[in-house]
Amino acid sequence: MQTETITKYQAFPAIPMKNRQWPDRAITEAPIWCSVDLRDGNQALAIPMSIEEKLDMFETLVRVGFKEIEVGFPSASQIEFDFMRRLIEEKRIPDDVTIQVLVQSRADLIERTFESLRGAKRAIVHLYNSTSPVQRRVVFGLERKGVIELAQQGTEQIKRLAKEMKGTKISFEYSPESFSSTEIDFAVEICEAVMDVWQPTQEDRIILNLPATVEVATPNMYADQIEWFCTHMKNRDRAVISLHTHNDRGCGVAATELGVMAGADRVEGTLFGNGERTGNVDIVTLALNLYTQGVSPKLDFSDIHTVRDVYERCTRLEVPIRHPYAGELVFTAFSGSHQDAINKGLKQQKKNGEGALWEVPYLPIDPKDIGCNYKAIIRINSQSGKGGVAYVLEHEFGYHLPKPMHREIGRIVNEAADEKGDELQPEKIHEIFRQEYIERKRPYEFQGIEIVPNGPNSVTLRGKWLKDGKPQVVQGKGNGPVDAFVNALQSSGCEPFELVSYAEHSLGRGAEARAAAYIEIKTAKKRSCFGVGIDTNIELASLKGVISALNRATS
Ligand code: KIV
Ligand code: ZN
Repeated sequence: MQTETITKYQAFPAIPMKNRQWPDRAITEAPIWCSVDLRDGNQALAIPMSIEEKLDMFETLVRVGFKEIEVGFPSASQIEFDFMRRLIEEKRIPDDVTIQVLVQSRADLIERTFESLRGAKRAIVHLYNSTSPVQRRVVFGLERKGVIELAQQGTEQIKRLAKEMKGTKISFEYSPESFSSTEIDFAVEICEAVMDVWQPTQEDRIILNLPATVEVATPNMYADQIEWFCTHMKNRDRAVISLHTHNDRGCGVAATELGVMAGADRVEGTLFGNGERTGNVDIVTLALNLYTQGVSPKLDFSDIHTVRDVYERCTRLEVPIRHPYAGELVFTAFSGSHQDAINKGLKQQKKNGEGALWEVPYLPIDPKDIGCNYKAIIRINSQSGKGGVAYVLEHEFGYHLPKPMHREIGRIVNEAADEKGDELQPEKIHEIFRQEYIERKRPYEFQGIEIVPNGPNSVTLRGKWLKDGKPQVVQGKGNGPVDAFVNALQSSGCEPFELVSYAEHSLGRGAEARAAAYIEIKTAKKRSCFGVGIDTNIELASLKGVISALNRATS
């Protein structure tokens, strides 16, 4: 890399614009979407999709709700041509979906493209040629005039073939490829020259697709280009202005959003942003960004896992774990304070009821809306807070731990995570919880009780337990079984303790139901310590809870 003085690169020249309007606009409705997964996306794959994979992808795109789908470049290869034929001959194109095909301005390629379309009800023929100064100079060796002629010749031929093609309604799209690197006045000039040939009407508009073939500037520059184009072109009402951004600077989504604010009507992109180099703009993110602003995206991502599975299978690419909305970790919080806030937010949201405004901290979207599960929201590692562990135990296993116990179990689980140096799955957390609270048998192992009522508020209890493996039977009196049991234990010479708190709830339902009791005790040595007892009998659950707390306090 050069240091200090950079001569190898220069800033992209700003568009001379006064009084730009787009910064004050908001997006209030979804643009027309066009998926280019099967063309731009496919041509960027190391192993392009087979016909079966393309069919699978096409059906998924239709299910998601795309009404315009660029299905390929039929003149480029036999497989692309054959795929078109399969779609048409097997009548796989729904009536409300229009297929789109790409072609360069070359007579033989245009002929072949029309051959591939025979029998289709409707199609968009998409013509492109590069227009940027560097491409004109280095690739074509043409001046502006020569490039305009190239575009017009292609348009003329498409117009003639479209007229001759009976039974198929042909619409036309023109892309000044590398628009974002083209002088803006020339981009308008060439598009107007194409319109002069095509003669679009308000009823039958041309699609002018303005690609950021390479993303070369900040998103606001692209928005300026779009607004300048829309406000300087002739017959704006006879054109659908379409965006097609790539992601070279990582701003494809931002550029597209600003471009829509700047006046575009339509957006081309791919699922999860597959495409040349850094990819095309990701339509999943665009659509769900709209949704989370209260705007219907008119695309259905309520089962995002299935869409992702099809994508990963067909493209052999993986959606990164941090990918917006769809990544494996995007509904996972590791930080304790985040977990705590999510936990509280979800509880409040549940109280607010279905359809209430979504107000859960750290989660920009309700995971349920896109088919994700609350279960996966919190995972535990050594950075996790007390709330996360309690959340997992409650949501995965049904334990409603008393609030003061969260810190204690949180610390225990965090230590285990630290030791493992990895995150802990819910099953492992449950195992740690059981071992710590429920399965301890030393020094005391509960064996059984007999209770004799003495009167309205008095019982005598005979408790049986093993102490360090040796049986003990001890009697105690109290105002209830727990009190009598504590007294029996105390009289057997155990470490003195007092009961601090008690909570219980039922665990599971029906014949399987058991009771869970949480007992907090205080000994002279330990400030406070919880125990947990589980039993089908609520009284026994409490007594087991006392033993659990005492075992923890004395070991
Ligand atoms: O990125 C691009 O410019 C393209 C054109 C063919 C529209 O894919
Ligand atoms: Zn592209």
